[in-house]
Amino acid sequence: MHRDIAEVLFSAEAINTRVQALGRQISNDLAGREAVVVALLKGSVLFFSDLIRSIDAPVKVDFAWASSYGHSTSSSGQIHLKVFPEEDLKGRTVVVVDDILDTGRTLDTVVRRLKEEHGAGEVRTCVLLDKMARRVVPIRADYSGFPVDDVFVVGYGLDFADRYRNLPYIGVLKPECQRP
Ligand code: XMP
Repeated sequence: MHRDIAEVLFSAEAINTRVQALGRQISNDLAGREAVVVALLKGSVLFFSDLIRSIDAPVKVDFAWASSYGHSTSSSGQIHLKVFPEEDLKGRTVVVVDDILDTGRTLDTVVRRLKEEHGAGEVRTCVLLDKMARRVVPIRADYSGFPVDDVFVVGYGLDFADRYRNLPYIGVLKPECQRP
């Protein structure tokens, strides 16, 4: 285990099992319809790449980048949308994939803008982790991997100051390592 990690919450094996199940659930719901699966950069990229391989339905992939954290562990409340999907989303079924649902501001903003500005039809949301205790905006993910307590987690795409994304598991970052 990496020396900056206090505790492993979800092993690579546990993540893989849960991601496969989420892929089956999404495949069943899509029932053969084509969806555009949109990864929110950067945190969801590992989850996204495993998830799309577990979806048994035609998909197109695209990316969006919404950021609020900078190099801190607490949300500023400001969501900056830096990159939006290239794909024509008008009337399409879209599945937005994010690493973690925290206050809900990011996903809420992205879903709203995909509908209002890009004309997306049905927009579903899929997150690997759900920190329900910190919700500020009343949003629920349509697909959710694991509930997680109010602790700062890294690994499997999740970062602190862009570090630790490459860890194959998800763990709690030691408090003394939560400095820029
Ligand atoms: P909101 O508050 O908008 O936040 O739902 C979603 C984004 O916040 C980041 N986030 C975390 N990143 N460990 C991380 O590495 C965490 O524990 C954590 N909590 C929130 C993340 O970028 C997510 O997309």
